[in-house]
Amino acid sequence: STSLDIYTYETIIEIANFLLQRTSIRPKIGIICGSGLGHLAENLTEADSFPYEEIPNFPVSTVAGHAGRMVFGYLNGIEVMCMQGRFHYYEGYALSTCSMPVRVMKFCGCTHLIATNAAGGLNSSYNVGDIMIVKDHINIMGFAGNSPLQGPNDHRFGPRFPPMNKAYDPELIEIAQNISKEMGMENDTHTGVYICLGGPSYETVAELKMWSILGVDAVGMSTVHEVITARHCDLKVFAFSLITNKCITEYETEEEANHEEVITTGSKRQNVLTNFVTRMVENINSL
Ligand code: 6GU
Repeated sequence: STSLDIYTYETIIEIANFLLQRTSIRPKIGIICGSGLGHLAENLTEADSFPYEEIPNFPVSTVAGHAGRMVFGYLNGIEVMCMQGRFHYYEGYALSTCSMPVRVMKFCGCTHLIATNAAGGLNSSYNVGDIMIVKDHINIMGFAGNSPLQGPNDHRFGPRFPPMNKAYDPELIEIAQNISKEMGMENDTHTGVYICLGGPSYETVAELKMWSILGVDAVGMSTVHEVITARHCDLKVFAFSLITNKCITEYETEEEANHEEVITTGSKRQNVLTNFVTRMVENINSL
C-alpha cells in the first residue's frame, strides 16, 4: 500500500534484535546496494545472509537485479551490513516502508550509511560508467506531499523537523573525491545533484529538460527517502550514483532508456565500485 505503513519503534527494535541474535558482526557502517551493484555484498567475508522473506516484518523486493537480502560481514576486515536489493516506491510500498531498513541499520549499531544507486546521467558532461558523488538532492516527492517521515513523529528516532542542508556529509564527500583521485578516476567522477522520481516509467524529453534547467545532474528512483530517514535518526550519509545511461533529452533519436542497460553497466563497473566502496569504508572506519 502507498498509505502510511507504520513500522513502530518496537517493530524496528525487534527486527534489529532478530538480526543481531543471528550474527556476531557488529557493523558501524550500513551499505545499500543499488541496481547492478549487488556484487559488493558478495565480496563480504564471514558473511551471514538473511533473505528478506526470512526477516520478520520485512517486505520482499520484486525487481530483477535485486537479490533481496541483508548481508552482514567483513569488507577488508571491517564489519558492515549491506542491503543487497532495496525497496522502491514504484513497487507499491509506502516511502516509510522503502526506508524502514535504514532505521534497522541504526538500531543494529550503525553510525554511517553509504547509499548507492544506478542513475541516468542528465548533466551532458557525464558518461556511462561514471560515478556521481551526491552533494545534494531535490526531494520532489516531498514537494508533492509525500515523505517517509509523514505521520506521528516518534522522538526516539529523531526530531519532527530534521534539517537537510548538510544531508550529504561534506567531510565524506571530500574523502570520496580524494579516493577517486588515488584510483585515477578523477576524469570519470563528478559531484552533483540527484533527484528521485516515482517511476517506474522513465522520463519524457520535456521532463528531463525541466530537471536539467532546475539544476539536476542525475535522475533515479531511490535514495532520497532513505537519506531523509537516515538524517532523521542522525546517521552520517555518503551517497553516490553509478551513471548507467545518458538521459535522452532530444526527440530525434532511436535510443530508449531500458533496465538492461542499467544492469549491464553495473556489472561492467562492479570491480571499480567495490574497490571505491571498500576504500570509503576503510576511511570512515578510521575517522
Ligand atoms: Cl534515465 N531515469 C530514472 N528515473 N532512473 C534511472 C534512469 C533514468 N537510469 C537509471 N535509473
